[in-house]
Amino acid sequence: MKRYSIAVFAGDGIGPEIMMEAVNVLDVIQKKHGINLFFVEELVGGASIDEYGAPLTDRALDFARQSDAVMLGAVGGPKWEGLDYAMRPERALLALRKELGLFANLRPVKIHKALINASTLKPEVIDGVDMMVIRELTGGLYFGAPRGIETLKDGTERGVNTLVYTSPEIERIARVGFETARKRRKKLLSVDKANVLEATELWRKVVTRIGKDEFPDVELSHMYVDNCSMQLVRNPKQFDVIVTENTFGDILSDEAAMLTGSIGMLPSASIGSEKRRAMYEPIHGSAPDIAGKNMANPIATILSAAMMLRYSFDLIAPAQEIEKAVEAVLNKGLRTADIFEAGTQKVSCTEMGAAIVKELR
Ligand code: IPM
Ligand code: MG
Repeated sequence: MKRYSIAVFAGDGIGPEIMMEAVNVLDVIQKKHGINLFFVEELVGGASIDEYGAPLTDRALDFARQSDAVMLGAVGGPKWEGLDYAMRPERALLALRKELGLFANLRPVKIHKALINASTLKPEVIDGVDMMVIRELTGGLYFGAPRGIETLKDGTERGVNTLVYTSPEIERIARVGFETARKRRKKLLSVDKANVLEATELWRKVVTRIGKDEFPDVELSHMYVDNCSMQLVRNPKQFDVIVTENTFGDILSDEAAMLTGSIGMLPSASIGSEKRRAMYEPIHGSAPDIAGKNMANPIATILSAAMMLRYSFDLIAPAQEIEKAVEAVLNKGLRTADIFEAGTQKVSCTEMGAAIVKELR
């Protein structure tokens, strides 16, 4: 029997609720397909701060390192907002990305037909949207130095972050972009702000070179980030694979998520050069306002589990089964609060999870 170990970090807020449903789904899959999934749980983020005094313990990091894949719920919440940056729940996420070398974040944006009216955009604008946002994850403003807040001699303060990229960092994320495009429509869009920011001028130069030298079969185009954010709501169907730097990708992927009606629908995979040890998480946050109310949408996390089966374990059929089960449940009209509309049936987080599990059985 094939055996895979998974580090399960539910985290904060709605994290534990959505993770529970994803684990239930994976449990059905392992029984059905005769695979052995071994789950190791640990606290991360605010929950870890409360229990151990740090957002990511060495123990949790070791679990992540020793596992075949990591599943993460969400981290953060108002309770920990006043803390130093180094002690905030979000550091757990950033440290995991950095320590595991997960430099590429894949965020697929696909419109579910059943949810076409859940979006704030017109159905004809979003019908058929199917794109992949690839976000660089371990560079740029998030990690660049110098950084910090200092008090100047005159008593005023100065805050600094640095947008920095080296050519090898750009090359490796560009390759992920081109390879992804090769498996799809052979079109790659690189998003930058090369008219203003030197770091992204280099980005454009390097992406162009990699395209010319290694992927002449893929059609490469470029767009400035401000224009891209506008085009995403104007005519999202023009996009297929987008590759962009960390902060631009953070922002554009939230925007792209809303095309689907809810940020509660979008899964993600964070991968490194070693395919296996990747991390899977919904793109949404910990939603403290609805935490503990059994209201969250577990679909993004469940679809992240499907991405894990596909990308880390090469279990394509089980991954498709999960995606089909989600589709089927949506087609039956079951909706969590975030995607609810008149004429559909409002269900809780656990009910949504149970319905998907039932579909799989
Ligand atoms: C995301 C989140 C994180 C990020 C936060 C929680 C640190 O917004 O995964 O998109 O900014 O990367
Ligand atoms: Mg984000």
